Amino acid sequence: MLTQTHAKAGRLADLEPVAEDPLIGLIALVNADPRPDKIDVGVGVFRDGAGNTPILKVMKEAELRLNATQITKAYLGSAGDKRFAELLRPILLGHHADDDRIAGLQTPGGCGALRLGFELIAKANPGARVFVGTPTWPNHPPIIKAVGLRIEEYPYYERGQGAIRFEDMIAALEGAEAGDVALLHGCCHNPTGADLSEDQWREVVRVVKERALLPLIDIAYQGFGRGLDEDAFGVRLMLDACDEVIVAQSCDKNFSVYRDRVGSLWIKTGSKADTQTAMAHVHQTAREMWSMPPDHGAACAHIILEDPELHARWLVELKGMRDRINSVRQRIAAADPRLAFIGRQYGMFSMLPLSPEQVLKLRTDHAIYMAESGRFNVVGMGDDQVDRFIAAVVGALDA
Ligand SMILES: Cc1ncc(COP(=O)(O)O)c(C=O)c1O
Repeated sequence: MLTQTHAKAGRLADLEPVAEDPLIGLIALVNADPRPDKIDVGVGVFRDGAGNTPILKVMKEAELRLNATQITKAYLGSAGDKRFAELLRPILLGHHADDDRIAGLQTPGGCGALRLGFELIAKANPGARVFVGTPTWPNHPPIIKAVGLRIEEYPYYERGQGAIRFEDMIAALEGAEAGDVALLHGCCHNPTGADLSEDQWREVVRVVKERALLPLIDIAYQGFGRGLDEDAFGVRLMLDACDEVIVAQSCDKNFSVYRDRVGSLWIKTGSKADTQTAMAHVHQTAREMWSMPPDHGAACAHIILEDPELHARWLVELKGMRDRINSVRQRIAAADPRLAFIGRQYGMFSMLPLSPEQVLKLRTDHAIYMAESGRFNVVGMGDDQVDRFIAAVVGALDA
């Protein structure tokens, strides 16, 4: 007779509540604030001088072409748009583009690439520890934990000094063991804006190689810092030196297609055959998770990259975004010596040395919204809001 009961079986109603993502909560607060001059530097999207996140002109053109020429929406398979990945190869990999030990596939954004990369690591080496900088993008730890890998922290940035804690970072990585993972930001570090210099990359690559670590480079903002090639310096240097490298890439920012979810994952091993085996696992995992990535954004990026005229226009629009980021940075940096560090950093984000109380006061007194950590998006505000932002921040630093 079956006597076992299932009294303890979990019901959906027994689920624990989930703490709200603070950045999502911030968006709701901004939306609810009726003050017309509010400044939203919390959200992580590029905004132009008028404070909008427009669709790139070249992307609109590609969408029209796609609409006019696409004759089927039949399944593409777990690799997504293969031509998109091929066209991306030289942009990301540079002089490694022809290396047949490197293979890539389209993913649902940079997040999809990260998840897939960590899933692969968890399959190959479930005992690996992932060394993560503090601070890092807040979605890194949950993705790593979701695949069951352990996290170790390495010091990355000293907020009060506006500087990278490079010696501490190296010392922590020196303590990693063969097979452990070094998670690195390719460029435009989120949340700090503090990128490794070329010499610092050389040193990190040395440690990664000496300790036989597996580097996973997350590059979500290529082209937003110094230029497409310059921003890929670390990725390419790591590929120069190491047999095994994973790169998680996002096109959501540099093509401004955030919600369309365009990214890619790249795997390098010591041989073409080993890469093929690793990619077979990657494809299998992709099938288990999302089966195939969404097509629209990658199909449009494919059209842009394939056509020399559209490609050239994309480079111009990308430069326009980069120039705005860097000009707002210079404007803020010139306003006060305590903000000068912002002018030496790259990408959309920087961290202000403000306490959570000061951040809250900026919100209540000045309708300025940023993350509690002091992270703000330098291009979250329109050109006409920059002076007011600077005055309020300087006031907070003086207080
Ligand atoms: C460092 C970093 N990695 C990855 C991503 C993920 O990008 P995507 O929106 O393409 O998933 C982001 C997005 O904010 C990011 O800042």
